[in-house]
Formats: sequence, structure tokens, C-alpha cells
Amino acid sequence: MGSKRALVLSTPGQAGQATMVADRLGARAAGVFARAVMHVPIETAREAREEARRLDADCAIAIGGGSTVGLGKAIALESGLPVLAVPTTYAGSEMTPIYGITDAGLKKTGRDPRVLPRTVIYDPELSVALPVGLSVTSGMNAIAHAAEGLYAEDSNPIMDLMAEEGIRALAQALPLVRRQPRDLAGRSDALYGAWLCGTVLGNVGMALHHKLCHTLGGSFNLPHAEVHTVVLPQAIAFNAAAAPQAMQRIERALGVQRRQAPRRECSTSRKPTVRRWHCARSACRRATSTAAEIAVGNPYWNPRPIGPAHRAEIRELLQRSFEGIRPY
Ligand SMILES: NC(=O)c1ccc[n+]([C@@H]2O[C@H](COP(=O)([O-])OP(=O)(O)OC[C@H]3O[C@@H](n4cnc5c(N)ncnc54)[C@H](O)[C@@H]3O)[C@@H](O)[C@H]2O)c1
Repeated sequence: MGSKRALVLSTPGQAGQATMVADRLGARAAGVFARAVMHVPIETAREAREEARRLDADCAIAIGGGSTVGLGKAIALESGLPVLAVPTTYAGSEMTPIYGITDAGLKKTGRDPRVLPRTVIYDPELSVALPVGLSVTSGMNAIAHAAEGLYAEDSNPIMDLMAEEGIRALAQALPLVRRQPRDLAGRSDALYGAWLCGTVLGNVGMALHHKLCHTLGGSFNLPHAEVHTVVLPQAIAFNAAAAPQAMQRIERALGVQRRQAPRRECSTSRKPTVRRWHCARSACRRATSTAAEIAVGNPYWNPRPIGPAHRAEIRELLQRSFEGIRPY
């Protein structure tokens, strides 16, 4: 990359890994900023940008999941600093030109080629410490990119191939990761799947599922990967009849019979339910209504068209996610 002074980014929990990278870089490390948090609050983005300026950094190294890569993107968006990403989850942000910044409780996203990491290093050894629960939900987050990519309005045959292969790789890798979290073969295949699914996310548009998760995560500060995990089976079931070819590919990738894909996704994590987050029932009901309102008010393109008339169905979809009710 031709860079000489890297600012190494991480979350507080991965400060050890960031310091390890900085130590190895020696004089080529300008410093460590270990304050990345989920959904990139604007205040954190400003602090990190200021730190990059103060230290005269000429690139950012993001070691971590989507939150840390997202912080690197927020710096790049303003300064054009190149980002080198070392992903340790399966979120896939490292392969996209999409950024997200949360300002006053609203998460705004956009696309800009400047934020796409210039270099990505996948090292399965760095992901073995990812807790099993988060590994599974993060893998489901990746599968969500591929699943929605398969019925995207602007889908194309190459992305379809990558999406199907990404789902297949993750569907095989995640049970292995769950059984043997420190086994590098499972971790390596999961990262391979994450790379494929992230590439799909970066190249074609997403639909209802991402719109709902984006709203739930950004506006209610719910954990990203877990939200994807509980909503995905419901969203796929909602869209199934309108996207038969995508369903065929998903079923083939998961190795399941016709119309069983949402159920299989559902059983990947034990009993996925929003309740797990100890969200008060009244707060969840409010979130469900507001998210449904946002989804129908300003919808993404979706294979099953969505408009104000579908408010009740979307609320029902979210309610089923909340309760952990199996689709169909
Ligand atoms: N722009 C995009 O294309 C895109 C794509 C996917 C996700 N995202 C964004 O990424 C964020 C979510 O990312 P995420 O799900 O990867 O979560 P995350 O980055 O917040 O990571 C979750 C937690 O796991 C820890 N962690 C990560 N890897 C670890 C490891 N190997 N060992 C131990 N702990 C580890 C992190 O430090 C953090 O505390 C959201 O803000 C989401 O909007 C953006």
C-alpha cells in the first residue's frame, strides 16, 4: 500500500490483538485506537479521525468485526486514508464500499469507493477466540447477505454462484465451528464463506431483511449479528413464494428439501428469539411497530412488493422473530 504510519483500530475487547499488530509493525505503527463500538456512533468516528490526524497516520488497519472495519471506513470517508482490514468475524464489511454512521439514534448508510478496504487479510487463527454464539450468529449474518443477493433486483449470474457457494461453505463450516471452535479447518471455511457473502453484499442490492435489521440495529441499538439471525428465517419465509429460483439455490446450498430453508436457518441457532436480549415486552412492541412503519414507509426493493398495505404482515413477521416462532 506504500503506507508508513498505520493507525491500528479495534474494539476495547480486542485491544490485545491490536497491540500485537502494532508491536509487529514497530516503527510503522503510528498508534492504537481501541474504542470501536457497534454501529459507528458519529462521536467515535470524530475521535478516531482526530487521532489519525494527530498521529499523522497514512493508513488505518482494522482488526476485528464489522464495527472496527466500519470505524476504518468512517476515517477513510473523510480523509481518503486507505484501510487494511483483518476481519475476525463473518460480517463481510471488508468486501463492501458500504459505510454506516449513527448520528442522534439514526444510522445513515451510503456507498463510496474510498471506504472499500484496499487490502484484506483473512487469518483463521485470529478468529478462533470469537465466542461460539457470536460465530454462529455472525455466520447467519453472512448467509443473509447471500440469501438476499440471490433475489436482488440487480442480481447477476456471477453473484448467484458466489452466493450459493457462500451459503454452502457456511452451512458446512458453522456446525464444525460450534463443535470445535479452535479447529482451523472450520474457521478457514467460515472465513471463505464470509468473503463470498460479503462480496455479494458489496455488489448487489439488499431487500426487506436488511431493511428490517438495519432499522432494528440502528434505531434500537440491538446487536447486529443476533438480529440477523432471528429475522432471517422469517424474512426468507415471507419472500419464498415470490423468489422461487433463489429458494432453489438456498435449498441446494443448505442440502434441504423444498420449502425447508427457513426452518433449517431457524434451527442453526438453538431458539432464536429477540426475547433473549431481555428487552422489555412494551419496548419490543414499540420497536416492532416502529420498524414495521419504517420498512413499509420507505421500503427497499423486495421480491414480494411492500407498501403501506403490508404494515400488519411486517409487524407479524417481527412479532414472530420476537417470539422465536418457527416460520411456516
Ligand atoms: N458496511 C458493511 O458492509 C457491513 C456489513 C456487515 C456488518 N456491518 C456492520 O458491522 C457491525 C457488526 O459487526 P459484527 O457483527 O462483526 O460485530 P462486531 O464487530 O461489533 O463484533 C462483536 C464483538 O465481538 C468481538 N470480536 C470480534 N472478533 C473477535 C474475535 N476473533 N475474538 C474475540 N472477540 C471478537 C468484538 O470485539 C466485539 O466486541 C454493525 O455495525 C453492522 O452494521 C457493516
